[in-house]
Amino acid sequence: MEHLDKEVLNAIPVFLKSVESIWQPTDFLPLSNEDSFFDEVRELREKANGLSYDLLAVLIGDTLTEEALPTYETWLSLIKPVTEDSDGGWHQWVRAWTSEENRHGDILNKYLYLSGRVNMREMEISTQYLLADGFDIGTAKDPYRTFIYTSFQELATNLSHRRVAQIAKAEGDDLLARICGNVASDEMRHANAYKSFVSKILQLDPNEVMIAFEDMMRRKIVMPAHLLRESGMPKGSAFTHFSDAAQRIGVYTTTDYINILLSLIEEWKIDSLRNLNEQGERARDYVLMLPDRLTKIAQRIKPQPATYKFSWIHQ
Ligand SMILES: [Fe+2]
Ligand SMILES: [Fe+2]
Repeated sequence: MEHLDKEVLNAIPVFLKSVESIWQPTDFLPLSNEDSFFDEVRELREKANGLSYDLLAVLIGDTLTEEALPTYETWLSLIKPVTEDSDGGWHQWVRAWTSEENRHGDILNKYLYLSGRVNMREMEISTQYLLADGFDIGTAKDPYRTFIYTSFQELATNLSHRRVAQIAKAEGDDLLARICGNVASDEMRHANAYKSFVSKILQLDPNEVMIAFEDMMRRKIVMPAHLLRESGMPKGSAFTHFSDAAQRIGVYTTTDYINILLSLIEEWKIDSLRNLNEQGERARDYVLMLPDRLTKIAQRIKPQPATYKFSWIHQ
């Protein structure tokens, strides 16, 4: 992390946008000081009424995932001890990244509040539980595992926000489509940043990066909201229903998981990694074989029927 600190600092203006130039949630939403506010909210609600149940459930799950941002910020800070030098590259990156990410939960929450379709109190309970429960994604405080995880995860969120945008558009909600499209493009910039950090460390320490990659893939990349629950329910129960819905409507599927893995293998040129020791070679070969193995498993997965009713959604 010491070695990478300057690279990370230089990455801030490359991959993140300045506060003054980036969009803010209010740019998309009705302004409450304007006389047109009530008409615009009525229009927003009419369009939101056309959203299908599964799409709304997935959108709520995505929003809750974004709203657990304090968990992610804490976890990212921990990979480099905070000393007096809290203005080092890494800690500046974490703060700047957090400041961009914070807009995602903000805008999606406001949209859902105005939509009239969501039991906000139930959703707020889930947010509080998710923050209190934290997560366990298997990276410990290891920067290699962390950057592999965040590369994967930012690509996964990019995909799922982008797909929600596409379905929202098809269902007639162009505002939600624009909101999720803009969130998705933020996630892509973040993915590119984390992927570039991994590329840097691959040049320095390919064996250990390869071993970390294998380890993360053996554990499977768990989603950050994997402990999601509803009021009165056990930890993780809502997450299962949320990911079933995402699989059902094609927002995030096992095939997407495999395609993200393939794109990382290509990005990091894993198949042309040479000069590895025996353990590094075994790790490389495991990762290279994995997409085919997962494809065989994916063919056996059947979508779960839509029977579950979330407490988050007004019937
Ligand atoms: Fe986000
Ligand atoms: Fe992100």
